[in-house]
Amino acid sequence: MAHQFVLVLDFGGQYNQLIARRVRECDVYCEVHPYKTPIEKIREMNPIGIIFTGGPNSVYEENSPKVDPAIFDLGVPVLGLCYGCQLMAHTLGGVVSSAPAREFGKTETLFNNSTQLFKGLPAKSITWMSHNDYVEKLPEGFVSVAHTQDCPVAAMENKERRLFGIQFHPEVNHTVNGVKMLRNFLYEVCGATGDWTMGDYAKTAIASIREKVGDGKVLLALSGGVDSSVAAALVSKAVGDQLTCIYVDHGLMRKNESDEIERAFADEPFKFIKVDAEKRFLDKLAGVTDPERKRKIVGEEFIRVFEEEGKKIGSVDYLVQGTIYPDVIESGVGDAAVIKSHHNVGGLPDYVDFKEIIEPLRQLFKDEVRALGRELGLPEYLVSRQPFPGPGLCIRVLGEVTKDKLDILRDADYIFREEIAKYGYDKDVHQYFAVLTNMRSVGVMGDGRTYDYTLALRGVTTTDFMTADWARIPYEILDKVSVRIVNEVGHINRIVYDITSKPPATIEWE
Ligand code: XMP
Repeated sequence: MAHQFVLVLDFGGQYNQLIARRVRECDVYCEVHPYKTPIEKIREMNPIGIIFTGGPNSVYEENSPKVDPAIFDLGVPVLGLCYGCQLMAHTLGGVVSSAPAREFGKTETLFNNSTQLFKGLPAKSITWMSHNDYVEKLPEGFVSVAHTQDCPVAAMENKERRLFGIQFHPEVNHTVNGVKMLRNFLYEVCGATGDWTMGDYAKTAIASIREKVGDGKVLLALSGGVDSSVAAALVSKAVGDQLTCIYVDHGLMRKNESDEIERAFADEPFKFIKVDAEKRFLDKLAGVTDPERKRKIVGEEFIRVFEEEGKKIGSVDYLVQGTIYPDVIESGVGDAAVIKSHHNVGGLPDYVDFKEIIEPLRQLFKDEVRALGRELGLPEYLVSRQPFPGPGLCIRVLGEVTKDKLDILRDADYIFREEIAKYGYDKDVHQYFAVLTNMRSVGVMGDGRTYDYTLALRGVTTTDFMTADWARIPYEILDKVSVRIVNEVGHINRIVYDITSKPPATIEWE
């Protein structure tokens, strides 16, 4: 796909992905690559600009990450951030040393706003600093274009060679006008045209899928999650009824979910095969209490069902996978496709006869996938849905899974989600759900004793789901949810709220 490209070279800083997102928010496509990327490869990528990220090292340490100095002679503008700024200074003959006064956090900074980087911005504002080292002496041809009380080079430039360094972090929200500085680099220096918008992306992607597939047959395993749903909508627009989507209803979905998925795609021209496999999954799960065993059973059975359906369709030319950009980088750029093709659909490539994998979302972050889904006209409840584990509710019914327990959980979970949405709290908590514990306790209802299940509610805030904090859901909402669940759902007489973060707990209970 032909669009302008910005290369972010990763030096191990914590904000790398954030930098990439910010660039894309400016409607410019970019990718993060390791700092060791060879110069020939960088030349081939033909970037309009290069950004060096921050990193934990000191440039004067022997084993700290370095760059090939030839990168500065490519004629491509370079912006170094934090460590990246120091590395640029060091490589080009400046002096970087341990700062007499370190700076961390919000720092008042003075700018030369007649420069390209700070054009149109106030001469004084707050930036987010986080550094021990500083540029003590500028390399030849550079001038300082911003400073703080303790840092004489908060930003530097060599306008002629189009090389820039910023000591603070423009990518974090605490830096006032930070995104505008990045935008200035992209538009004022690199000549960005802003050709990365979801509308354009959708059009180009549809055209290229159409060209690739020709009149071939395409298969997609639709889970109802955001990624596979958006991939389905995109490929459907490209090749219509040459696409077959198989949705395996394992009976472990949330309330109304299967119908919603079916309804969402009712107007799409592709063939939609819903396999009602509830009984076979529940039969396999009967009597099983070990969480890992439960996961394995669901994964294996899913493959069986898909295999059987695949055989009915016969050989297909392409298999579509909803792999997204974070999946690619998490597995290491290069061989990620292979790893993920197994992950995503539980080993399908070994069982289904197809020629090639298509991954139309491979370049997109999650929020971009959601934006694309909206662009393609998918309903908001599908596009904005929270993550839902592949094994479904089977890992939210603790211990043995039965249809009765699943139904209790479905009703309770539905009320929880409904109330969160009603209060408009769904943007503040990133994942929230109910768990049916296998603990029962004594309660009293009306005049009688009850001996029923304890339900746990879980809500977390997180950026990456690797760590998470428990969400401070207002008592008012929790109270309403609790009263409704006990009154409206049978067999629950006690409700608890999970107040552990991850770590030490995990988000799911099993
Ligand atoms: P944990 O419980 O490990 O969950 O803190 C982190 C995130 O991953 C989701 N999750 C899964 N997703 N298959 C999936 O597709 C799984 O087996 C699975 N287990 C957990 C979980 O919902 C949370 O968003």
